[in-house]
Amino acid sequence: MAFIVKKKIHGNDYFYLRESKRINGKVKSIDLGYLGKTKEEADKKLKERLKKESVQEIKMEKKILEPTKINVEEMAIFCKKKGFIYQSGEIYGGFAGFWDFGHLGVELNNNLKSEWWNFHVFKRKDIVGIDGSIITHPQVWKASGHVDSFNDVFVVCKKCKKPGKADRYELGKVKCECGGEYDEKTAKDFELMFKIKVGESGDAYLRPETAQLIFANFKFVQENARMKLPFGIAQIGKSFRNEIAPRDFLFRSREFEQMEIEYFIEPGQKCPYEIPDEEILIYSSEAQINNQESVKMKIRGALKKGIIKKDWHAYWLATEFSWFKNLGANPDNFRIRQHMDNEKSHYATDTWDLEYKFPFGWKELEGIADRGDFDLSQHQKFSKKDLSIFNEETKKKVLPHVICEPSLGVGRALLVFMFDSYYDDKERGNVVLKLSPKLAPIKAAIFPIVKRPEFEKIAEEILDDLSEEWNVIYDKSGSIGRRYARNDEVGTPFCITIDEESLKKKDVTVRDRDTTKQVRVKIVELKNILRELINKKLKFEDAGNLIK
Ligand code: GAP
Repeated sequence: MAFIVKKKIHGNDYFYLRESKRINGKVKSIDLGYLGKTKEEADKKLKERLKKESVQEIKMEKKILEPTKINVEEMAIFCKKKGFIYQSGEIYGGFAGFWDFGHLGVELNNNLKSEWWNFHVFKRKDIVGIDGSIITHPQVWKASGHVDSFNDVFVVCKKCKKPGKADRYELGKVKCECGGEYDEKTAKDFELMFKIKVGESGDAYLRPETAQLIFANFKFVQENARMKLPFGIAQIGKSFRNEIAPRDFLFRSREFEQMEIEYFIEPGQKCPYEIPDEEILIYSSEAQINNQESVKMKIRGALKKGIIKKDWHAYWLATEFSWFKNLGANPDNFRIRQHMDNEKSHYATDTWDLEYKFPFGWKELEGIADRGDFDLSQHQKFSKKDLSIFNEETKKKVLPHVICEPSLGVGRALLVFMFDSYYDDKERGNVVLKLSPKLAPIKAAIFPIVKRPEFEKIAEEILDDLSEEWNVIYDKSGSIGRRYARNDEVGTPFCITIDEESLKKKDVTVRDRDTTKQVRVKIVELKNILRELINKKLKFEDAGNLIK
């Protein structure tokens, strides 16, 4: 404990801050600093000092509470080193724009997709899923407009001579990474779809989006699943684009996965759902034209003010943002940005992107376009099949409109969760990957405290039991500290240790990755408790007897 003491030196008073400490069983006093010649001066100085120290402490804590900023190359190195993601064909020098998922990457990717599916399909009554083929009838891509207009502009930098890509409206406005200008004279259209041969019959394409499979199957799904407007059809699957300049790790690749919903309504139909109460940076096309900044406001407020024109758009933007937030993404890294007229896709009447502040700038994470009846009209025209549906109430046929198409790349979402959960914890001396337990590739690591057959037997029984439900691992090599560190780094939220007490009391220690707190939990209750913890239905401190 620290206190002020007065010392008399040559008849004068001097005030000091002193602390008493028990060192090797004996109480010792240590002077912590001079505070002044009067009691008032000493009190004032002490107050200032305490304030400074607490600010310092808060700063230290904040440092640990905030993710560590790393760039995308560092993230790619980390992902490779830990077994998340490798460049495809790396042993042959790598193949630009293609990535392979390692033993942890595949789990994280699958968890991410199943969280998306649970939230958008299982938990809703108005959305069903499909899984269309990757290669389909080439007419699908003619009808959708991709054959004629799914192009980027291929440009070459005048300075570094590297090829790059631009959208037509960007020509003359964007520059190469090196700062050089693109040569407009040699700029040419570049088809983004991969052409392939199917049997003898000729050209087909690898799909550049999953969306068209939903449109082409729309009528079957609506009839078979007996869906009534408004309703949606969801799909997760691979898409392929022959990107001119794949870059930024998973951000722009040539083979990637999309999670898409086409949400159909009767033209003019109002949104019956409550718009989630979310606040976010909003960047309208008007603000961009007038060179203004984005403004933080409620999405509901933006709808009321007419910044977001349609209730459905406000609803889907807020819903998608909430999905990221609830899975642990940092809301401060998100904004919504409206497309300017010159950047809208050929099919869209209004598009808002959910953007994320990547280390390489604000970029599109998810596009949410109002596609109107463009796609169903086109497929109706090209296939000569009636794709309208009969409204039992009005007794009229109607061609539904896609009021919103939330379209998200799995790879981009994965990067968001990796960046927002990467903490280089200097105190622990290792990275702590604070992924939501729902996303974490390994849910629990089980350790016998030392290699003894009776501990190992219990550990193996627990492993068998828990692995019926989750990806859990058994780790018995290295010190306990090393095993904790190894699991912190790959985001394992819970470590379970079997020790001497476990033999007597039939319980184990469960350690929380983020706080390093530990509780004792009875082995018979372990599985249920773990389930509650993973689903965030239970606070860690309430999971068992907290070890002080
Ligand atoms: N069906 C609409 C559509 O495909 P998009 O804006 O071209 O729209 C939707 O793509 C999402 O797919 C993007 O927001 C992004 O998350 C992901 N995406 C698109 N191209 C990608 C690429 N080359 N690499 C990784 N993800 C990509």
